[in-house]
Amino acid sequence: MTMPADETFNGLSAKEWTVLSKNVWNDVSSPRQSHHLLHGATFPAALAERVLSLYSGRGDIVFDPFAGIGTTVIAAAKLDRVGVGIELQEQFCKLASSLIDKEKMDLFSNKESVRHEVICDDARALDKHLYSNSVQLTLSAPPYPNLDTRPPKAKGPGRPRKSDPLEEMSERVPAHSLRQDDFGNFGYPMYLEELKTVFRKVLNVTREGGYSIWVVRDQRDTYDGARYIPVHADIINLGLSTGWRHHDLIVWDQNDQRRLMLLGYPNVFYSNLNCSYLVVFRKPKDK
Ligand SMILES: C[S@@+](CC[C@H](N)C(=O)[O-])C[C@H]1O[C@@H](n2cnc3c(N)ncnc32)[C@H](O)[C@@H]1O
Repeated sequence: MTMPADETFNGLSAKEWTVLSKNVWNDVSSPRQSHHLLHGATFPAALAERVLSLYSGRGDIVFDPFAGIGTTVIAAAKLDRVGVGIELQEQFCKLASSLIDKEKMDLFSNKESVRHEVICDDARALDKHLYSNSVQLTLSAPPYPNLDTRPPKAKGPGRPRKSDPLEEMSERVPAHSLRQDDFGNFGYPMYLEELKTVFRKVLNVTREGGYSIWVVRDQRDTYDGARYIPVHADIINLGLSTGWRHHDLIVWDQNDQRRLMLLGYPNVFYSNLNCSYLVVFRKPKDK
């Protein structure tokens, strides 16, 4: 038996619910605008809007502890959710605020009527900004960890380019800040350890039955023989170890956005890592 859409927790009809239940997404690309290029690691607006429409309802609080230029918060404004983000870098907070204001100007005559903001702080201080048991959904993409342990001068712009794309990838200077509290500067063990703090605190601010969704991509450690790093599996284990229930795994197929590269040819075959994972956790009822 189905029920009217306005009686389901997310406002979806049974038909929409079924159509949107595919676990491989290849239809969430949205055009990149100039402000996306200023950041360089944003996820598409369509992806954020899809996630919010599946895992939250109107008026719910949606949170992003690594908010970048505020894609999650802007989706919240569009879909009538309350959106809160935290972002370390001031220039991204400022850009997020102006994009949010613009979105709200377009949507509401009184732009102060619903709260949407990106707070400039460290994700690990999230409990300063949110009440316990208040958030319905967290959607976030943390920065990639730093797999490059070489001294900075070995990575400078004047270095010669490598002919193998896999090696060349390892030579690129990562697009994160030089700040010590930037997760993009943490080596992988420290990265996972510090994310644990964020996961524990997110669990505390999430209400029972609420969701937490992490957009991550597996990596190859090109400094260690192209060893495969199953980031999504490590994130699942991290969630389980901090009290979350693993609820789902969605593959975001990015083959249409990324050029295929000839890797390891002709000696070793590697696949191009052209998908990301949405690791979906749920807060158990008794936490
Ligand atoms: C992959 S980007 C997120 C982009 C975002 N999803 C968007 O669409 O705009 C990760 C962000 O985490 C931020 N970040 C890094 N370390 C942080 C920390 N300790 N606390 C909060 N944000 C941090 C980076 O500055 C970066 O903007």
